[in-house]
Amino acid sequence: MDRYDLARAVARDAGKLAHRAFGTSATKMKGRHDVVTEMDREVERFIRAAICARYPGDAIIGEEEGGGAGDRLWLIDPIDGTANYARGLPRYCVSVGYLERGVPLVGAIYDPSHDWLYAAARGEGAWRDGERLSVSPSAEIDAAVVECGWSTRRPTAAYVDLLARVMEAGAAIRRAGSGALGLADVAAGKVEAYVELHINAWDCAAGIVLVREAGGFTNDFFAGDGLRAGNPLLATNAALCAKLAAVSGIPITS
Ligand code: IPD
Ligand code: CA
Repeated sequence: MDRYDLARAVARDAGKLAHRAFGTSATKMKGRHDVVTEMDREVERFIRAAICARYPGDAIIGEEEGGGAGDRLWLIDPIDGTANYARGLPRYCVSVGYLERGVPLVGAIYDPSHDWLYAAARGEGAWRDGERLSVSPSAEIDAAVVECGWSTRRPTAAYVDLLARVMEAGAAIRRAGSGALGLADVAAGKVEAYVELHINAWDCAAGIVLVREAGGFTNDFFAGDGLRAGNPLLATNAALCAKLAAVSGIPITS
């Protein structure tokens, strides 16, 4: 089993495990509006064990247990959209990304609520199960939907300012609570863009591969300290890159 096969298999199996406790797993608060469930930890252990069994020399960084970087690196988010998951709201996923020497090569995102597996490998296109994905071709900001991710890691005023700028530019906004699924929606052409002032690498590694393989663009998220400390993220189609870079202040080139 190569790493692309492994990413797809483990994301699906981990999602099925998570779904057994959908809306019922015991919760704790890691911080303000930052919830973790018992299942986040169990699913991360499950994914780590599967990767270690097949590729024991690979490095793993996960949302719940951390870890160190390496040339062959997995970035895993056992449950992305944990606040939705804990409340029984069906918008959450498992996200598994793989990088070699800092280059994102593979991404798999499994959405248990729909039984949808999103997957991409560099040069092989982006897929949801058997369907090839393409970003929206729309250049119309007045018809665009932009998901604006949010966490307490950035000040409220900065987020409100971003929302105002995106809306004043003409786009509609949404925030559905999973950065990984927000990127999958960009790859699938369901929304025109995803923007967040700060997101962590495990939330977006898989989604970045999906968006790029679906013909979209992202900023250089892994620049600087992005892998360890996170960075701003913008993902969109070629036609809206310049406009949304100006609006968000996040540089991106198509
Ligand atoms: C969060 C979600 C959210 C995004 C945050 C993430 P979590 O991850 O992806 O949509 O805006 O930046 O931290 O807490 O649900 O795993
Ligand atoms: Ca997450």
